[in-house]
Amino acid sequence: MIRTVADRPLICVARKLPKPVEDRLAKTYHVRFNVEDRQLTADELLARAEGCEGLLITPADKMTADFLKRLPESIRIIATFSVGFDHVDLTAAKARGLAVTNTPDVLTNATADIALLLMLGAARGAYWGERMVREANWGAWSPTHPLGHDVSGKRLGILGMGRIGRAVARRAKGFDMDLHYHNRSDVPEADKLGARYHKRFEDMLPHCDFLSINCASTPQTRGLINDKTLALLPQGAIVVNTARGEIVDDGALIAALKSGHVAAAGLDVFRGEPNIDPRYRTLDNVFLLPHLGSATHNTRTAMGMRAVDNLDAFFRGERPRDLLTG
Ligand code: DGY
Repeated sequence: MIRTVADRPLICVARKLPKPVEDRLAKTYHVRFNVEDRQLTADELLARAEGCEGLLITPADKMTADFLKRLPESIRIIATFSVGFDHVDLTAAKARGLAVTNTPDVLTNATADIALLLMLGAARGAYWGERMVREANWGAWSPTHPLGHDVSGKRLGILGMGRIGRAVARRAKGFDMDLHYHNRSDVPEADKLGARYHKRFEDMLPHCDFLSINCASTPQTRGLINDKTLALLPQGAIVVNTARGEIVDDGALIAALKSGHVAAAGLDVFRGEPNIDPRYRTLDNVFLLPHLGSATHNTRTAMGMRAVDNLDAFFRGERPRDLLTG
């Protein structure tokens, strides 16, 4: 159905988006932009969504069953500006007949790059090294301190051999790493990239000098990195997380970092972020980033364009490419 300009759908956008994305939205839709670029409370977002047909959200907007129940009847589609959709209760969305879409593919490389940055940063002491320089606490060069850990030639276990896991594997091959992976089900031969499959996650852990978390946050993976699984890692392993904080039991990881069983961790995502477990801030053997996985100019624009592609398809009456509720 062709809609007139006056009849264009009204879209509520939860957060400021890259300019080319906002410009494109404004050409096709009536839009309620978040001009002050402030994280809205659930009540504020509900009020702004009044009378809208589409909602463009970010991972910080929690679409719980209760929120979805209160969502104005006029909303027909929720497009999340993220590949992850653990913040959307898909069952409740489906029950309400809402379409939900995400933005896969376009952030794969940027996120895998950050996983490598975390591996290198954690292993080589980027945090304490940088701090020494900034705090003018850099003594004379010494053969014995400060020292980090090698990355090249080490064993890397990848939890979740999806698009991002495979992109991490490709990069790690450049560091001559010995690759292992665990995935719910095995992947086609072409996607193995020379890595060894472990059907049971627990069986992979003893082979991980590095563990890279790249799986989705689901009821099955939440808390999967806990005291029992961490104990199966070799002494001095390094853990990096670019997926979701909920996959890690913070208390267990912090205890392992303090005991030295886990030598270092690189974390870009946190349970309850931005209000992270404050104990992380006190540790020298962690390299912490504020959820920067997809945070490049090009990638964030591509994510926005992908979200708008999905809205466009939906309002043309077609099936959006990234429909999660189909
Ligand atoms: C996503 O898209 O799910 C990422 O976490 C955002 O960087």
